[in-house]
Amino acid sequence: MLMRISLLLSLAASCLATPTPAIRDEVQTPLGTWLWESTIISDTAKVATFLDYTVSNGVQRVFAQVNTDIQTSDWQNFISQCAGNGMKVEALIGNPQWVIGTGTPSLQSQLDWIQTYQAAATTNSGFTGIHMDVEPWGLDDWETNKAKYIEGWEEVAQKVASSASSLGITVAADLPFWANTLDSTTAGQTIDIWMLKLLDYATFMTYRNTVPAFLEIAAPVLAAGNEVGKPVWLAVETISLPEEDLSYYGQSASKLQSDLNEIAAASQGNASFAGIAVHDYDGWSALPRTA
Ligand SMILES: *[C@@H]1O[C@H](CO)[C@@H](O)[C@H](O)[C@H]1NC(C)=O
Repeated sequence: MLMRISLLLSLAASCLATPTPAIRDEVQTPLGTWLWESTIISDTAKVATFLDYTVSNGVQRVFAQVNTDIQTSDWQNFISQCAGNGMKVEALIGNPQWVIGTGTPSLQSQLDWIQTYQAAATTNSGFTGIHMDVEPWGLDDWETNKAKYIEGWEEVAQKVASSASSLGITVAADLPFWANTLDSTTAGQTIDIWMLKLLDYATFMTYRNTVPAFLEIAAPVLAAGNEVGKPVWLAVETISLPEEDLSYYGQSASKLQSDLNEIAAASQGNASFAGIAVHDYDGWSALPRTA
């Protein structure tokens, strides 16, 4: 009894002494983010702002769009600073047209640039992976050419995977949460399973802006990861979209953060659950801090 009372007293004292922890301190899961506007890499002040925001929000992974106009030294400085702050940077590439053999810049030219970059990079300044966002359902006539486009998508994924493997870095893809409704070229296998088998991990675009709606579409995606034995990242959207139930746009960053905590708590019993990625850095950092 005495011990309990003194425990309570010391708990009360520590509550008084400790300031309320920031919401991010309660996050049980790594976060990631997409950096499409990677031109900020050439701007020292913008990089400082980026690092401040991502580090304070618990970001551990950055998917930075390959842009060959950015100087190699700027890339090296950026990736080294991210690495110094515990963040892995993956080379983000993607174009639906690669699936039909067109698209500028070409898939090959992007892979060539990554290869050349990696050859000159040190451990800290190299990409840790290639992250592809191909999205062939954005092509005209997707509905009528699905089987053909999926075959092309698989070829792209295989090419990227073999390039990553030869560089000794990871390979991942952005997939829609409904990938389990698309047949792969392997009989009896949907594309989510096919991709998970090929890749090191996948980021599923489980875009919803309430916890219950999010968890409903996240559950089958995590189950697919459990089945294949590969890590799965879930993802939230923060940019303005015509569909009002998909994005956290219009809500605050602190509401998003507390929803991410709930999502992580509900999902972490899945062996596959690896983290949550926020799309994208621009949208996220533009959210008002509090409501
Ligand atoms: C896996 O995650 C889903 C979605 O968050 C959740 O509904 C389910 O309970 C989790 N499974 C386990 C075994 O924790």
